[in-house]
Amino acid sequence: MNIAILGTGMVGQTLAGKLAESGHTVVIGTRSVSETLARTVPGPFGNPPFKAWKEQHPAIALVTYAEAAVRGEILFNATSGGASIAALKAAGEANLAGKILVDVANPLDFSKGMPPSLTVCNTDSLAEQIQRSFPDVRVVKALNTVNALVMVNPAAVGGGDHFLPVCGNDAAAKATVTEFLKSNFGWKHIVDLGDITGARATEMMLPIWIRLMGVLKTPMFNFKVVQ
Ligand SMILES: NC(=O)c1ccc[n+]([C@@H]2O[C@H](COP(=O)([O-])OP(=O)(O)OC[C@H]3O[C@@H](n4cnc5c(N)ncnc54)[C@H](OP(=O)(O)O)[C@@H]3O)[C@@H](O)[C@H]2O)c1
Repeated sequence: MNIAILGTGMVGQTLAGKLAESGHTVVIGTRSVSETLARTVPGPFGNPPFKAWKEQHPAIALVTYAEAAVRGEILFNATSGGASIAALKAAGEANLAGKILVDVANPLDFSKGMPPSLTVCNTDSLAEQIQRSFPDVRVVKALNTVNALVMVNPAAVGGGDHFLPVCGNDAAAKATVTEFLKSNFGWKHIVDLGDITGARATEMMLPIWIRLMGVLKTPMFNFKVVQ
């Protein structure tokens, strides 16, 4: 498939690398190709500067958000949560219309230091803001509750015996994404939380996730639902 990842950070790099390895044609979208390739500072999670990563992945094209939106059949929003609406506006409403957008972003506000707070919660969510701003986009919230390395390799934690919530208004889009995550990444326990308002719950998992990472001293963990 033609996959477009919007976002050049650790999540964008990890998703793109894994999907290209699996045989998909992958492009990554950014604000400015030249500025992103000129960066020399590593990412906050130790991921390499984009140019160094790109040299290891020559088949993955770096393009503008708009070109990525045109080229992708399925899109992933892996942009900073506070910038996701701006990034999607740059991608272009018409280019996004009718496409599935897997929203991986979290509305984290680091402006007052650690731990971050959420810019939106309880009665709204980033995914709902995206769905309202782009009504013709088929938004599926998924993968935001785990670290990037776990997103693409759930088996790395407890043999993959843990859960991934998804939600969205479009049942067919959700079914496509669920199958995609199973077949490409090996997710076993995907739980459908219903419509896009389920993103209030999954985005509000971040405060506990971040505190747990501080205690466990690793991002390689996930939650498991036991009945
Ligand atoms: N890190 C994880 O393991 C993890 C796990 C779950 C969910 N998430 C979520 O996934 C998303 C991506 O995380 P990340 O750590 O890979 O990267 P990030 O640093 O949160 O975001 C990087 C991306 O955001 C874009 N961006 C920043 N400001 C922008 C603006 N004003 N307008 C348009 N685009 C802008 C950047 O564009 P340029 O390319 O132009 O610089 C870049 O592509 C975040 O929402 C994060 O909360 C992360």
